[in-house]
Amino acid sequence: MAIPRDFINELVARTDIVELVGRKVQLKKAGKNYSACCPFHSEKTPSFTVSQDKQFYHCFGCGAHGNAIDFVMEYDRLEFVDAIEDLAGQLGLQVPQEKGIGQRKDPSVSRDLYELMDEASRFYHNQLKQNPDKDKVQKYLQYRGLSSEVVEHFNIGFAPDGWDNLLGRYRQNQDAQNKLVTTGMVIANDNGKRYDRFRDRLMFPIRDRRGRVIGFGGRVLGDGTPKYLNSPETPIFHKGNELYGLYEVKQRHRNPKTILIVEGYMDVVALAQFGVDYAVASLGTATTAEQLQLLLRNAEQIVCCYDGDRAGQEAAWRALETALPLLKPGDQIKFMFLEQGEDPDSMVRKIGKDAFEELIANAQSLNDFMFTNLSSEANGDKSKFAKIALDLIGKIKDPILQNLLLENLSHKVGMNSSEELKKKLGFNAQAAKANPLGAKGIKGRGTPLRLAISLLVQKPTIGTNLPMQPALSHLSMPGLDLLIQLLDLTRNEELTSAQLIELYRDKPEFNTLKKLAQWDHQITDENLQHEFKKSLVWLNNQYLEQRYQELSLKSTHTKEERVQLQKLISIIKSQK
Ligand code: GTP
Ligand code: MN
Repeated sequence: MAIPRDFINELVARTDIVELVGRKVQLKKAGKNYSACCPFHSEKTPSFTVSQDKQFYHCFGCGAHGNAIDFVMEYDRLEFVDAIEDLAGQLGLQVPQEKGIGQRKDPSVSRDLYELMDEASRFYHNQLKQNPDKDKVQKYLQYRGLSSEVVEHFNIGFAPDGWDNLLGRYRQNQDAQNKLVTTGMVIANDNGKRYDRFRDRLMFPIRDRRGRVIGFGGRVLGDGTPKYLNSPETPIFHKGNELYGLYEVKQRHRNPKTILIVEGYMDVVALAQFGVDYAVASLGTATTAEQLQLLLRNAEQIVCCYDGDRAGQEAAWRALETALPLLKPGDQIKFMFLEQGEDPDSMVRKIGKDAFEELIANAQSLNDFMFTNLSSEANGDKSKFAKIALDLIGKIKDPILQNLLLENLSHKVGMNSSEELKKKLGFNAQAAKANPLGAKGIKGRGTPLRLAISLLVQKPTIGTNLPMQPALSHLSMPGLDLLIQLLDLTRNEELTSAQLIELYRDKPEFNTLKKLAQWDHQITDENLQHEFKKSLVWLNNQYLEQRYQELSLKSTHTKEERVQLQKLISIIKSQK
């Protein structure tokens, strides 16, 4: 990410979350906070609260929580960078880009790459009408049964035969030529010769969620190899994060109920032509976690559609394994398999929209798909079945879904309850094992360390102007590093909770901090400072204790150590 921290910090500081949320949700003042019916799940009585002090929202019903950036990401279903741009736009600010190796060096550079891709896409599209070979291409489109509407909707084009049809348009512009290499549209060989990557191919522009062309897939017009050629990874194109057709789906449906994942470009396009205009394709690779997450954010239900052959089954299984750790309550993933020898393109042409949608409606649930596949794998061996199933179920992070599958599994293997099953097989549920607050290294609900961190996160100004705590850095206690960091961050700057937590977005502590920010510690505002100091005193005492232990275990002491030990003994005595 190339947006400077300071800018994000400023953005969070200048956006008032009450106002931001209030524009989308009817808020009512309730004591210190505001409350409303939660926009993220359906409810009749309000359990969604927004805190002006903390600049944070939290739903006691579904657990949704976060700062202004999270709200925009969740509510408008935007990616982080897009949410930042959105908030900046609301404040009339321009998002600066940070310089760094491998990053977008300055906005003008990346803007040019997008512009070039857009020009390429328009050039290819125009070739459908202008190129001397246009009849050949039109014939191919006809042969594939693509309507002119769908060709327009997906902006399909034609890259003419020849080495420099695209490159030649930038003869006078060295900079643009270099950028064509950067975008993968032009290949530079070892001798420094440059030539068009895509030649004599039908071109499918791949657009990002904002509609910008970031790459292409190109198909031979006939039987040549490779059948498809894709853009390589570039500064603006990361295959694993993008889905072909998602932009086009969102053009048609703001909130699609179902999104279908299929394997090919042609499948997406043909389905759309026949009215199944909510299909996307991963870009010639296995579906990634990022892609699944993107879809889960954009639709109520995802249906993964595969060919009926062995490869299709295997691809589906990989998708299942990728999906398991991502699933949250309410997420729906289903699986459907077409007849042998068919793909969605041929299928929808054969049976039409309604029958195809019936296939979608009859897709297998995750549960069914998983257990059916496992039974055939285990071949009647019950313990093998249970073992593989448990391994898979262990990957699920969502406790509700995990328990549901465990219950199902226990019935299938003839046990009375999932408890019995867990005991017998020594299952250590990930969800059950995890600290309920996910607080890595911060043990126990009410330890002074945990309390200190929570108080500081909830009211960072209690850390302002606090003296350095040198003893803490000598104390070995899991979670202490985090406290020391937080103390450093809050010492010289007055931050809100939202700003403080934002500094951790890319760090492993992010979720812990968000959760601690919600933790109801039952301490009144007047007592916050006092309790916070008390926990720091306790920690400092821990250090003294630890040092005393260390020194008292040594058989010989230096002179300094002896003096220190004497001091420690008197301090510890005076406290008892
Ligand atoms: P048509 O044969 O035109 O109907 O295409 P299809 O979409 O049915 O293709 P297929 O099922 O063979 O492949 C599915 C997807 O895999 C394609 O859309 C491509 O993304 C990818 N793919 C297929 N062949 C190749 C290839 O030769 N090279 C690369 N890189 N990707 C391919
Ligand atoms: Mn096909």
